[in-house]
Amino acid sequence: MKESRLMFTNSPADALRELVAEFDTRGGVFVIADENTIRIVDTIPVIADVPRSVIQSGDSNKTIAELSHVWQQMSTCGLTRHSLVVNVGGGVVTDLGGMAAATFKRGVPFVNLPTTLLGAVDAAVGGKTGVNINNLKNEIGIFAPADAVVISTCFFATLPTDELLSGYGEMLKHGLLKGETEFNRLLGFDVLSAEPDKLLEIVKESVEVKRSIVAADPAEQGLRKALNLGHTAGHAIESMMLDRGAGVAHGRAVAWGMLVAMILSHTRLGFPSSLIHRYTAYLKMTYGTPSISCRDYDRLVELMKHDKKNVGRGQVAFTLLRRPGEVVTGCVVAENEIRSALDLFQDLMG
Ligand code: GLY
Repeated sequence: MKESRLMFTNSPADALRELVAEFDTRGGVFVIADENTIRIVDTIPVIADVPRSVIQSGDSNKTIAELSHVWQQMSTCGLTRHSLVVNVGGGVVTDLGGMAAATFKRGVPFVNLPTTLLGAVDAAVGGKTGVNINNLKNEIGIFAPADAVVISTCFFATLPTDELLSGYGEMLKHGLLKGETEFNRLLGFDVLSAEPDKLLEIVKESVEVKRSIVAADPAEQGLRKALNLGHTAGHAIESMMLDRGAGVAHGRAVAWGMLVAMILSHTRLGFPSSLIHRYTAYLKMTYGTPSISCRDYDRLVELMKHDKKNVGRGQVAFTLLRRPGEVVTGCVVAENEIRSALDLFQDLMG
């Protein structure tokens, strides 16, 4: 699988102009954005006046119906394999737009311009594209890396706090996968008041962690499962809260899920308890405490059993760590161990 070209810049309009000039665009340039990010498109001269498809924002619109609408607009506009699609938005736009581009006429080149921190450090990079069906996230999709990703932190200044913290949750994960120095640096960094160039530096380091893992295992046969750190418990908490009508941002749930993974890493693999305590203090202060109790364990374990990254039926596989930077994927953890870890999680967060 090809690797995406990654460009880090706080002059995204210039970078995009230079990039577009390098492609064969005899079939025209086409933009995919959502109803919020279309405002950004209008400020970037090279894409401001090209045909566009504007999808509705939000994960509930990452659907086959919306994808089909985009395909029809691409067809109506007469796109060819010599066109270039530019996806401007967060994860919904880059996941759906990437799939639209990669499947239209069996593949049109595409560029991602992520406009959220979560999109920049995760969704826009690594080639996962797709849509949801039957309330199942990313159930239909293909691996299709963008030809290029232009990453710029100047779009993040207006993001809500929750959205910034959500992206930072994935950055904490990358830091923990990289090593203790990187993780500690992130625990001491204030993403909410960071100026764009300083943020761009740490975003670049974070994306490099994901890039190198994906380069080694693009189709998630083994090592890429490392990127699932914090997601087994995190997804379960996210889904349970959503069902209750008290949805939480993805990266916040991942940040909590990482503490569950650290607790299991300690009991299973001797992960240092000092780091667990340092992370707990940070987590409580920055991300708060999820409202879960022991009455929720049945539901949480049930949700973990349905995680699509599990291999054996009814088994729950976690990504764990011996220490920061030393990952062990596919650790099957018994139900009673998960319940004990949730107890410890509650004690620490209480
Ligand atoms: N978000 C995890 C991955 O791209 O593999």
